[in-house]
Amino acid sequence: REDPLVLGIETSCDETGVGIVRGRTLLANAIASSMDEHARYGGVVPEVAARAHLESMTPMIGAALAEAGVSLEDLDAIAVTSGPGLSGALMVGVGSAKALALALDKPLYAVNHLVGHVGVDVLGEEGHLEYPTIALLVSGGHTSLLLVRDLVSDVELLGETIDDAAGEAFDKVARILGLPYPGGPHIDRLAAQGDPKAIRFPRGLTLPKDMAAHRYDFSFSGLKTSVARWVEKKQDAGEEVPINDVAASFREAVADVLIGKAIAACTDLGVPRLLLGGGVVANARVRSLAEERTSAAGIALRIPPLDLCTDNGAMIAALGAQLVMHGHDPSGPDFGADSTLP
Ligand code: KG4
Ligand code: ZN
Repeated sequence: REDPLVLGIETSCDETGVGIVRGRTLLANAIASSMDEHARYGGVVPEVAARAHLESMTPMIGAALAEAGVSLEDLDAIAVTSGPGLSGALMVGVGSAKALALALDKPLYAVNHLVGHVGVDVLGEEGHLEYPTIALLVSGGHTSLLLVRDLVSDVELLGETIDDAAGEAFDKVARILGLPYPGGPHIDRLAAQGDPKAIRFPRGLTLPKDMAAHRYDFSFSGLKTSVARWVEKKQDAGEEVPINDVAASFREAVADVLIGKAIAACTDLGVPRLLLGGGVVANARVRSLAEERTSAAGIALRIPPLDLCTDNGAMIAALGAQLVMHGHDPSGPDFGADSTLP
């Protein structure tokens, strides 16, 4: 089917996202976030997120339809994130999508949130993806290096974090520095004022002895501990913590490891394309380092539009549309929310 009209629903974490695409064209991207309700707990509270999805779902569906200027009857298909994510949160999206599909008698597609972060790039200027491509997916919940031979049928996991996700590391270090949650954007802002060479923080899993077994895996918990120790030492000595330098040096360490490993995968496997995805791609240094190193190595770099890098419904709609266009069968009514979907 050419250019199907697809509505996508995303509820894996704190964003209630409803997006509408026509083929590879973005028509609407309505988002409500419950982040304000979680901020005072320093992290997303699953039950609070699930309840907020319930309250926001109908308004967001209405907002997306209005923005796109279409009605429910016009839709060719519905797509929904079935996992991975928070169970209760996912269930609200899956239940809503099933209800819509059943009531409207429309085909329903269950899609993987992480593949959605990669596939969203088809909505960007360059359009359809070229294969194979290495994809680096960096968010609050995931840090994964993927070999994508085909978005809808062949995505191979090369490596992932063995402890904290990159976004989680940003959030934890922000807390150490007394910054509000989620801390990634705050660290990014302060880092612009600091010296990235001021402190040499460790690069997890990049020592030669780690290389063979963990060449494409990541570890950020040692880095976080190292930042905490460094800050404690300063405080114990009664000295002022140079917060901008700590932020810049930490950000440099994360960007260095992320982009270093992504380029290594491209080079090892002879894949001259790199695609970035996930909320941490909003980080200015992650992007500039990716640009520097891919251009030096002759690798084509693709970065989705920044407002589509964080969780949203449009990425789910875009992936659903790809499934329709490639003639995939709908998922049927029997799938459920799968919080640990690989
Ligand atoms: O993809 P996303 O919106 O949600 C998940 O699926 O996790 O990513 C959210 C994560 C948070 O940890 C947030 O701190 C981080 O992305 N983040 C950033 C920046 N903007 C968002 N991290 C570093 N620098 C940023 N500018
Ligand atoms: Zn995400």
